[in-house]
Amino acid sequence: MIQTDLRDFLAAVDDAGQLKIVNGAHWDKEMGAVTEVLYRQKVDQSPALLFDDIPGYPKGWRCLYGMLGSPARLALALGMDAQAAGDRMAMLNDVRKKMALHEPIDFRTVSDAPVLENIVEGDDVDMFKFPVPIHHEADGGRYIGTACGVITRDPDTGRVNMGTYRVQAIGANKATSYISNGKQGMIQRDKYLDAGKPCPMAIVIGIDPVSFLAARYTLPDSVCELDWAGALTGGPLDVLEGGLTGLPIPAGSEIVMEGEVSPTETTEEGPFGEWHGYYAGGARPEPVITIQRIYYRNNPILTCAASQKPPHSHLFERCFLRSAALWDSLDGAQIPDVRGAWVHQGGSGRTFVVVAIKQRYFGHATQAGLIASQINPTGYCGRYVVVVDDDIDPSDIHDVLWAMGTRSDPKTDITLLDKCWSSRLDPMVKSQDELYNSRCVINACIPYERIDDFPAVAQTSRELAREVMDKFPDVYS
Ligand SMILES: Cc1cc2nc3c(=O)[nH]c(=O)nc-3n(C[C@H](O)[C@H](O)[C@H](O)COP(=O)(O)O)c2cc1C
Repeated sequence: MIQTDLRDFLAAVDDAGQLKIVNGAHWDKEMGAVTEVLYRQKVDQSPALLFDDIPGYPKGWRCLYGMLGSPARLALALGMDAQAAGDRMAMLNDVRKKMALHEPIDFRTVSDAPVLENIVEGDDVDMFKFPVPIHHEADGGRYIGTACGVITRDPDTGRVNMGTYRVQAIGANKATSYISNGKQGMIQRDKYLDAGKPCPMAIVIGIDPVSFLAARYTLPDSVCELDWAGALTGGPLDVLEGGLTGLPIPAGSEIVMEGEVSPTETTEEGPFGEWHGYYAGGARPEPVITIQRIYYRNNPILTCAASQKPPHSHLFERCFLRSAALWDSLDGAQIPDVRGAWVHQGGSGRTFVVVAIKQRYFGHATQAGLIASQINPTGYCGRYVVVVDDDIDPSDIHDVLWAMGTRSDPKTDITLLDKCWSSRLDPMVKSQDELYNSRCVINACIPYERIDDFPAVAQTSRELAREVMDKFPDVYS
């Protein structure tokens, strides 16, 4: 069952042995560091971390990191058996098929939810009432929104958008948010600001797993993330109507802030450890958000996500979702027989992408690689694309390196593309006036003309492997 309440989800995560409670870590860099050290050791086999007894805060006021950061937790969030996470490509394909069938379902307004247990407003608003973390040593301040949902409404069309955009707490009731150029949240916000009007905003900083999946997913402009979340659960997502902004707020939220973005006032935002593991974006002025009201559950949970040099606690699901979207895009571009796709964690979820195909014709691998290097979601800020045969698991870096080392000839199988789509966040961009980078597409498939007489692979067959595993179970327990 898909959970739209964070606490029900955490109970399922705990039952699956995927939750660890940590008492006594400080909000000032310690929670971030504890999480980072664990994810460096165990990568996507790490549990979710629920920090409690945070110095200076009441017991029970908690921070959650890594909500969806393992195959098993992501499977649970998607309503799949945690065991389904064993075979990554099969799970990826199942999720794609499931999503392809989903039509958005309009959200449904309800009048009550636990997040209404506490309401503070006006002079009583103080974001630092919550254990707002500093995630990394060089961050510019305390970030209240990282695993969050920023909700706005288009003043022209009325379409509601919910995106995950970081939110820095600047003072008790003042915040600011960095939204990248072209993102829906920025387009909607700037329509108000350009007209000299404040932009109403609701910010969910204790978010349920389904809303978090929706907020971070790049959807067509016409689709509201809350309706997409409904499609995922198979029924309408329950929302409350924000008392000040009228914006819909997911009813399963732990903490929600309502306020407005100023059309005139700015303040410095950042620096913040970014998705690629650098502080390339620096600190820049961003519009000030005045928080006018906060709703929160008793013993609230603040949901957190600290980006940094990979691996980190929200990278697995990022790679999974992008891999699913890439596979969809390649199918949509009519590249036949794509058998898998994987956006690797080591490439920060963007810069190292692998596509597996069943080769059907001369040039098939080149075609798949070039398209993958330019299409959404891997067209932006990419670097390396490797195309492998369908006997290679694209998510297994050892398999991929083996294919590169044995099936590609560097002199003939590497294609370079210049002047591709990059960003000011790219640490290799030389000038803010030339936001280009280049791409490298590596064909690591068996040369098509040798496909029938390439040397056989030295590997135990699946049948024999299964036989010996059944016969000598102690060896593998
Ligand atoms: C943990 C996390 C933090 C993110 N932080 C930001 C951010 O600070 N600014 C931003 O523009 N995008 C950020 N993103 C990416 C956006 O959430 C993502 O591109 C999303 O699709 C944007 O929604 P939109 O298409 O409705 O604009 C973040 C994603 C995640 C998972």
